[in-house]
Amino acid sequence: MTPAKKNVLVVGKGGREHAIVWKLAQSPTAGRIYCAPGNAGTAQSATNVSFDGTDFERMTRFCLKENVHLVVIGPEDALALGLSDYLRQRGVKVFGPTKDAARIESSKVYAKNLMRHADVPTADYRVFDHPEAARTYVDTRDYPVVVKADGLAAGKGVIVCKDNPEARKAVERIMVREEFGQAVGRQVVIEKRLEGEEVSILGFVSGRSILLMPPCQDHKAVNDGDQGPNTGGMGTYCPAPVGTPEVMARAEETVFVPIVHAMKRSRNPFNGMLFAGLMLTNQGHRVLEFNARFGDPETQVILMRMKGDFLELLDAVADERLDELPDDFLTFDPRPAVCVVMCAGGYPGKYDGGKMILGIEKADALPGVKVFHAGTKVNGDRVVTDGGRVLGVTALGDTLADAKARAYEAVKLIQFPGAHYRTDIADKALRAVKEAKPAEATPKKAPSTTTQNIRDYGTKSKPV
Ligand code: AMP
Ligand code: GLY
Repeated sequence: MTPAKKNVLVVGKGGREHAIVWKLAQSPTAGRIYCAPGNAGTAQSATNVSFDGTDFERMTRFCLKENVHLVVIGPEDALALGLSDYLRQRGVKVFGPTKDAARIESSKVYAKNLMRHADVPTADYRVFDHPEAARTYVDTRDYPVVVKADGLAAGKGVIVCKDNPEARKAVERIMVREEFGQAVGRQVVIEKRLEGEEVSILGFVSGRSILLMPPCQDHKAVNDGDQGPNTGGMGTYCPAPVGTPEVMARAEETVFVPIVHAMKRSRNPFNGMLFAGLMLTNQGHRVLEFNARFGDPETQVILMRMKGDFLELLDAVADERLDELPDDFLTFDPRPAVCVVMCAGGYPGKYDGGKMILGIEKADALPGVKVFHAGTKVNGDRVVTDGGRVLGVTALGDTLADAKARAYEAVKLIQFPGAHYRTDIADKALRAVKEAKPAEATPKKAPSTTTQNIRDYGTKSKPV
């Protein structure tokens, strides 16, 4: 008997959502796939619909009418608004945490207090709701700090300061001038600035089970060498060698398990994708932030390598039956993947849309290359820019150096006015290989296919 086909609706319009739609379309049980509102890329493997994640009522009606089996929520703002709660209450199955559980991303204060409570390693911090007290605290620190607005601010509410005057200015911008919004600026977290390499660890959380994805590294700053203002993410590679098996095991034990336990104990269980941004310092790993969703552009490189039925995986997480999937359900292509984000002129500041993009098809035709769309839309018979991060050009290669070379070969085939991108994605890992083994200029081929195991943390003596 052939299994019933499942219709899916993906919420969002970025590169992450194109990658999700592309991977879902490869599932043997996928029926019709919809994307709300989607971009020119999602339109290739899904039907774009004209509403977005803020139109709860229309989305519910659509799901009931079109017999949508599962809604996959991409962006954090829809989660923070409570889209998953709203849909679930009306009988629609959702991949994504509740509004309360999504506070792990939407409130820095909640996340920091939860980490303190669960004994999860993170930077020392204090919370302030008055600018004067915040300034006094800054002035009495003998180390640089990071000032973080409490609420969602599209990645811009985190100000990494080099000295105390800069930190005072950050307090002013967030709390007094309310540059990121009134509610967002009501409270700030001020924490110690950490030094080290960052690593993104994404894990599916479902009931008692946790399934970590291979580690990735993002590049937050707009310019080469980590210079310039922060963005949503300028490029990724996977696996990131800094995420050694020891780092992954420690992250699972000291970050994911205690957080999942603590949330469950406080009757605020997490279900969906939990994403920890870690800093690997000389004193060990520290959590910089949690996200309650897939990373962008981490998802592009993870899904490029993933083998297995993605729809069944998301469905099992949503049903809290992840532990029923066999241990080898998911495997990953041993080849590393690199994603280079091409941006609109001016991003992360002001930018224009509507610029014609040429060369996507040629780039897509290169072996091992997939061009994920982000800020694009169809205009007549053309694809034009429609956002800050425009494309995530992603490639697999036998080595990380090959993946990088192939991704940039593809980038060079694509043109639009004002386009810019970093030219050093994955260089940190490539440099580390060279420094460690000077005689060996190119890294070795990746080992055979890797398997990630589903871990079940529920035991009778220690219920989650
Ligand atoms: P967040 O949204 O909290 O992850 O912050 C965004 C980016 O700011 C991170 O990816 C880091 O690059 C940087 N950042 C955040 N917290 C710290 C910290 N305590 N020390 C150094 N850099 C930080
Ligand atoms: N790439 C970082 C994020 O998705 O927040």
